[in-house]
Amino acid sequence: MAALSFLILTGAPSHTLRSAAEHSGILIGTAIRTQRLSELAYATTLAREFNMVEAEDAMKWEVVHPRKDSFDFSQADRVVAFAAGHNMKVRGHTLVWHRQLPAWLTNEKRSHDELTEILERHIKTVVGHYRGQVFAWDVVNEAFDEVALGRLRSTIWYDQPGIGFARQGTAYIERCFHWAHEADPEALLFYNEAGAQAINPKSDAIYAMVRDFKHRGVPIDGVGFELHISGLHPDIASISQNMARFTALGIQVHITEMDVALQVDSNGNATPQDLQRQAAIYRELASVCLRYPGCTAIQTWGFTDKYSWIGSHSGNRQGAALLFDSQYRPKLSYEALRDTLGRER
Ligand code: G3I
Repeated sequence: MAALSFLILTGAPSHTLRSAAEHSGILIGTAIRTQRLSELAYATTLAREFNMVEAEDAMKWEVVHPRKDSFDFSQADRVVAFAAGHNMKVRGHTLVWHRQLPAWLTNEKRSHDELTEILERHIKTVVGHYRGQVFAWDVVNEAFDEVALGRLRSTIWYDQPGIGFARQGTAYIERCFHWAHEADPEALLFYNEAGAQAINPKSDAIYAMVRDFKHRGVPIDGVGFELHISGLHPDIASISQNMARFTALGIQVHITEMDVALQVDSNGNATPQDLQRQAAIYRELASVCLRYPGCTAIQTWGFTDKYSWIGSHSGNRQGAALLFDSQYRPKLSYEALRDTLGRER
């Protein structure tokens, strides 16, 4: 019976994303929603297909730090326990972001010193809680502006009021990496960003920051390229060039939040042509990653179209962005990704 359930969970060797990724020596991960782990199809698909997980929301401030003086790890602990039970790695997301912050933090005016103390304690408590269990952290998330590309975003942590380094550019980010490193010297520490996968002013600014950090011994190990793709025409050559320059700095790149949003009808269905194009994009982007030994993980932002932030956040005519349809049937995108990962690097 135990052997049978093992077979059900892991599938035949060459027929899953997980086995294909193990073949090419890359991690294949996905973001997960804790409350869905009790759904059988969700949990079995997850365990069968992936060897890495990340909490979509459960490790964010509003969940783990709901009151100033107390932390609540109950949801996030379930993610870590699921991963441990299925021999999966855990990426942590995220310690410093301007969204999903608890009201107790944002509702009151605070001094630089008070905010510094709160942030240091948050980072050290969360990283410390998962020391040895979370192998990589998105320490700082989306700190560069979406409009004024190349500039730091104005946030509570940077300059509103900020932790006290507002005239020193990326110095506040640097502090956060040091705190995380002190809490778990073995964890890999990442800077994670949206819209920085191709060469553009934002990725130029991040590149300059990472090069500077590496040069001065700031403990940064990698950069996460989110890869939320919409529009069906990502600039693959530019993404490849960008991946080349980042990995040449001696850091790792993780693809952290991949999805490819499609136009959908009122039933959530995309056209066959778009589903084919989507598969080609998954294939092309996975091939770019495999080209560079420093690209060590590919992660999708969810895995079933049943549960995806696309649609709920990015407009109601977008959807169908992931690898499995809403009935957990593998899509063309799944086959494209699995077949690409199954090749030798
Ligand atoms: O907190 C309430 C919760 O109490 C309530 O039960 C629930 C009911 O709808 O709403 C709650 O919060 C929602 C939260 O997800 C948890 O489900 C928020 O309204 C909703 O805005 C939030 O969305 C998340 C979003 O980040 C917030 O910016 C998405 O799930 C998550 O996929 C998305 O993920 C981000 C990455 O962290 C960073 N990169 C971009 C990516 C996509 O936006």
